[in-house]
Amino acid sequence: MSGGNVGTMLVTGGTGTLGRQVVPLVQDAGWKVRVLSRHAQDRGDDVEYVAADLMQGDGLDTALEGAEVVVHLAGGPKGDDVATRNLVQAAEGTGVKNLVHVSVTAVDQLPLTYFKSKLGAEQAVRRSSVPWTVLRPAQFHDFALKTVQAMAKLPVLPVPGGVRFQPVDARDVAERLVELALGEPAGLVPDLVGPKVYTLGELARDYLKATGKRRLSLPVRVPGKIGKVYRSGGNLTLSGADVGTRTWEDFLAAQTSVKPIGE
Ligand SMILES: NC(=O)c1ccc[n+]([C@@H]2O[C@H](COP(=O)([O-])OP(=O)(O)OC[C@H]3O[C@@H](n4cnc5c(N)ncnc54)[C@H](OP(=O)(O)O)[C@@H]3O)[C@@H](O)[C@H]2O)c1
Repeated sequence: MSGGNVGTMLVTGGTGTLGRQVVPLVQDAGWKVRVLSRHAQDRGDDVEYVAADLMQGDGLDTALEGAEVVVHLAGGPKGDDVATRNLVQAAEGTGVKNLVHVSVTAVDQLPLTYFKSKLGAEQAVRRSSVPWTVLRPAQFHDFALKTVQAMAKLPVLPVPGGVRFQPVDARDVAERLVELALGEPAGLVPDLVGPKVYTLGELARDYLKATGKRRLSLPVRVPGKIGKVYRSGGNLTLSGADVGTRTWEDFLAAQTSVKPIGE
């Protein structure tokens, strides 16, 4: 993309779970990395940090100056539509040749705040005049871990019937995103999911086993449209997806935070 010269890649959310995996891969590919964060600071890692809040939209011109590629990973539980619209607006008319956006599987299926804002974000990218690439990964192992840790805090484990996930490793997602960022704009590419499908109950039981905890399970039913989508597997990508290599079991085994009970 940079025609032999070292180009600058702007990584929004470069300080997050996914971003921390993406940044060194971009550096290994010989690019200068600029990270957009709300808390810019010199971390002595050869990365230029630029302070900007995507929700406010200030400071984006500085962040985008000279950037050939933008990898947009910044996100939160809500507001990604607003944040992404601000980013896209600022990128229009600049020299950005590929805006790589991370969306999420089933983005248009689940009427939950997070998915609605991710859908708005994806639409902002797809409607923009900036050449773009969108990847929809499944939930990361880190997210699955946080979910089952929260479930296991309760004295009885609530297990929503029929809820399944295809958790994927953030490392696999990072590798794919960097591959896409180094290539030409590719539009909406195949989803990226983990190697296996698990019920939420299986994920929780694996976690309990790994930590030596015991809990009685309480089957619960997810109500309404959201429950229907989950029970029908509407949140899964069972065909046509790219598949990551690292399993939930491998991820769990590598967690130093997963200590046997008595922690
Ligand atoms: N976690 C999952 O299972 C999953 C699955 C599919 C897709 N995704 C998507 O993948 C992306 C990365 O997820 P993650 O789990 O790595 O998230 P994360 O660990 O929560 O990190 C979020 C990042 O976004 C930045 N950020 C948040 N609000 C911002 C704002 N207003 N302005 C500028 N930066 C802001 C944060 O930077 P500072 O705090 O330094 O400002 C941080 O680097 C998100 O877009 C998420 O929707 C996640």
